Amino acid sequence: MQRTLVMMSRKKILFAFLAVSCVSFLLHQGGHLTWNGKSFHVGCSLFGHRSHHLSKTKHANIVFLKTHKTASTTVQNILFRFAERHNLTVALPIQACDHQFCYPRAFSSHFVHPHTLPAQVVTSHMRFNRSELQKFMPNDTLYITILREPTAMFESLFSYYNQYCLSFKRVPNGSLETFLSDTHRYYRSDEKYSMYAHNTLLFDLGGNKDHNPLDGPYISAFIKEMEEVFSLVMIAEYFDESLILLRHLLSWDLEDMLYVKLNMRTPESKFNLSSDLPSKIHKWNALDVKIYDYFNATFWKKLHTFGLDCVQKEVELLREAQDKLVRGCFGGRLPQLRSAAQIKNKELRPWQPSSKVDIVGYDLPSNISRSAASDLCLKLIMPEVQYTHLLLKSQSIRYRKKYPLRTPLVNSARGVRHHIPRSSSRGSAVPPRSILQQPKITSH
Ligand SMILES: *[C@@H]1O[C@H](CO)[C@@H](O)[C@H](O)[C@H]1NC(C)=O
Ligand SMILES: *[C@@H]1O[C@H](CO)[C@@H](O)[C@H](O)[C@H]1NC(C)=O
Ligand SMILES: *[C@@H]1O[C@H](CO)[C@@H](O)[C@H](O)[C@H]1NC(C)=O
Ligand SMILES: *[C@@H]1O[C@H](CO)[C@@H](O)[C@H](O)[C@H]1NC(C)=O
Ligand SMILES: *[C@@H]1O[C@H](CO)[C@@H](O)[C@H](O)[C@H]1NC(C)=O
Ligand SMILES: *[C@@H]1O[C@H](CO)[C@@H](O)[C@H](O)[C@H]1NC(C)=O
Ligand SMILES: *[C@@H]1O[C@H](CO)[C@@H](O)[C@H](O)[C@H]1NC(C)=O
Repeated sequence: MQRTLVMMSRKKILFAFLAVSCVSFLLHQGGHLTWNGKSFHVGCSLFGHRSHHLSKTKHANIVFLKTHKTASTTVQNILFRFAERHNLTVALPIQACDHQFCYPRAFSSHFVHPHTLPAQVVTSHMRFNRSELQKFMPNDTLYITILREPTAMFESLFSYYNQYCLSFKRVPNGSLETFLSDTHRYYRSDEKYSMYAHNTLLFDLGGNKDHNPLDGPYISAFIKEMEEVFSLVMIAEYFDESLILLRHLLSWDLEDMLYVKLNMRTPESKFNLSSDLPSKIHKWNALDVKIYDYFNATFWKKLHTFGLDCVQKEVELLREAQDKLVRGCFGGRLPQLRSAAQIKNKELRPWQPSSKVDIVGYDLPSNISRSAASDLCLKLIMPEVQYTHLLLKSQSIRYRKKYPLRTPLVNSARGVRHHIPRSSSRGSAVPPRSILQQPKITSH
């Protein structure tokens, strides 16, 4: 008992020391933002649970199922930046699929652009199908997703896809209340984009959105399978806490989790829900509610296992570091939120689902030119579509350099011949399995 206490206090002192030194590290690094491989390690791993990530290599093989209207764009941006920094390959959709894997069709490995294979990271929208992913992802891939409380999520879907999804568009006056008062009058299950109007979480996860909600065994089996597949189900309501769990799962550094919130709406585009709407939304999306409630509960169990205190400490460190980074990037203060139409820089203008929804994004402050902004700063606020295009471009270039023999004959045979390397370097024609070493990770 005595001994434990002594050990505890030693640990606390060590933690406090590390926390202080890492904040000061950030104070120094945040300003000029050179990510030169230095990193800091803090937090929960010092409190005696299984994640001794100090000695581990960062885990690279990840599938993040990007669900709709759940803060998933922000997670995607974190993964994109991590992949770029570590030269990882992100599987991206072929052009015919747009920037999503031909969503809402069920995912197929044929939707992956060949220049983005072999891949370590998958993070673009898709309708989940694990066996198709297993066809090209390494077998130690960790699967992750994020859920959001169904009332908030449905309100967001209704507003965002109001002109897109016919089930919403045909509602008089664009009234959420009217839709919920008689869903069957407006909703058509087989229509294009109907998945935005009913149990969208379940649909994205590969389930049947129109399944009878009274069929308990169906949803129980579905949840059980999800639990087997996903090592971590993040919860948007506890976004920073989710990132802390994610970083421990992947043995990443806190600095790998820095982000700026992306793809939000202006307050004017949000509906103010009257008191009986949440229960109506829950009733209509009963399958999503079951999934959310289950995984919110398991999420909180995980937080307790880690220790709420130490998670909270890491969250605070993350927020401080983030603040510092953002100030360093954008000339001494946070970048101004602007509605998409006002953003001058095309690279930074988020996609607008319709003129009736105002998505906000960031623009560089007027005294910071595009060329002066560091690459990291720009990527931090770059919307999904632009970032996806950029990555596809840079990965295609890298692919062609690595595998010149695979470049299809586009011009004349003479031109191609020029690219054949003199020495027959067999090595370069064999794709590496992965760039980072992959440690064995047990999920917490
Ligand atoms: C990534 O690739 C670039 C160019 O090939 C190289 O200079 C850099 O050191 C690599 N970085 C890492 C982390 O492997
Ligand atoms: C998922 O893919 C497998 C083949 O890999 C296929 O048999 C199955 O039907 C697909 N599931 C859905 C829901 O499309
Ligand atoms: C993973 O794949 C490799 C080669 O593809 C194989 O040797 C190994 O046994 C597999 N591991 C598991 C756990 O399936
Ligand atoms: C739509 O709005 C108009 C004006 O605000 C109102 O007069 C009308 O009753 C509304 N229609 C429905 C179906 O709520
Ligand atoms: C909801 O309330 C906020 C704050 O009171 C307001 O700014 C916004 O315009 C309201 N939204 C709608 C759609 O009425
Ligand atoms: C998630 O679970 C926690 C712990 O049980 C609970 O306090 C919280 O209200 C839940 N959150 C939501 C949004 O339901
Ligand atoms: C841009 O303007 C802000 C506030 O006016 C100032 O704090 C910052 O130093 C300026 N940045 C540059 C690069 O001039």
